[in-house]
Amino acid sequence: MTSPQESPDALRDKVAVVTGAAGGLGRAISRRLHAAGARLALVDRDEAGLADAAAEFGDDAATFAVDLTDDARTEALPGEVRDRLGTLDILVNNAGVRQIASILDLTPDEWRHTLDVDLTAPFVLSRAAIPGMIEQGRGKIVNIASITGELAFADRSAYCVAKAGIIMLTKTITLEFAARGIWCNAIGPGVVETPMTSEYFRSGPMRESIERNAPMKRWAQPEEIAGPVAFLCGPESDYVNGTTLFVDGGWNSAKTY
Ligand SMILES: NC(=O)c1ccc[n+]([C@@H]2O[C@H](COP(=O)([O-])OP(=O)(O)OC[C@H]3O[C@@H](n4cnc5c(N)ncnc54)[C@H](O)[C@@H]3O)[C@@H](O)[C@H]2O)c1
Repeated sequence: MTSPQESPDALRDKVAVVTGAAGGLGRAISRRLHAAGARLALVDRDEAGLADAAAEFGDDAATFAVDLTDDARTEALPGEVRDRLGTLDILVNNAGVRQIASILDLTPDEWRHTLDVDLTAPFVLSRAAIPGMIEQGRGKIVNIASITGELAFADRSAYCVAKAGIIMLTKTITLEFAARGIWCNAIGPGVVETPMTSEYFRSGPMRESIERNAPMKRWAQPEEIAGPVAFLCGPESDYVNGTTLFVDGGWNSAKTY
């Protein structure tokens, strides 16, 4: 049986904003939403990567070169998306950075930068997108969190704190706006093979840890995260709100790494 998400019509007439669209997960999410019928507003600070990502979607995608740490620029984005694409129905807060350093080596500026990109930007963008979504009667927000929002990993303090924060932001947006037609859910990936994590897979402790501790003994490919994101963007998840769906091969259940 074909589910609505698998049909090319599930997101027909919808416009989806995907941040971090030039990155590994952003590209897979964009592809999946487009396959379900959505037109795309692709956002990233990496202009060349953005152009490359947009090339496969032709007239169905518009690009927005934005540094999401620029609050004013980020706040203006939903209006620009509506001007260029006519509407804004879905927001996927996917852009992220992650620094690996001990708390003793991480500077306050580095800490702030991670929180700015991974937590404050989704807040600023959601805050700017929600009023228009309420006005049109319906809007879905999907935040890309992480298993690190629930499990503490050494040398990733700012990242873990930001991801724990976005899980809570997801719940608070739901509490405030669910009755006005807003859905806000999060996806909590385990380790996914993308440019962010490419160093893990050659060798070293993270690779060994995944192979030893992850219940499925492997990491994910971006497409395995993109499907669940599409589910949370589409009509089949209409009674799912405020939740974080961990897409981690069972790792979060094992609570070991
Ligand atoms: N790869 C994993 O294992 C994994 C696991 C859990 C969660 N995640 C999350 O998934 C999301 C995507 O990660 P990825 O693995 O695709 O990483 P990636 O590095 O391939 O992509 C991240 C993208 O975000 C963009 N970006 C970074 N800072 C930005 C800024 N200030 N303004 C605009 N764009 C900015 C980058 O240019 C890049 O294109 C992130 O939120 C990450 O934390 C990834």
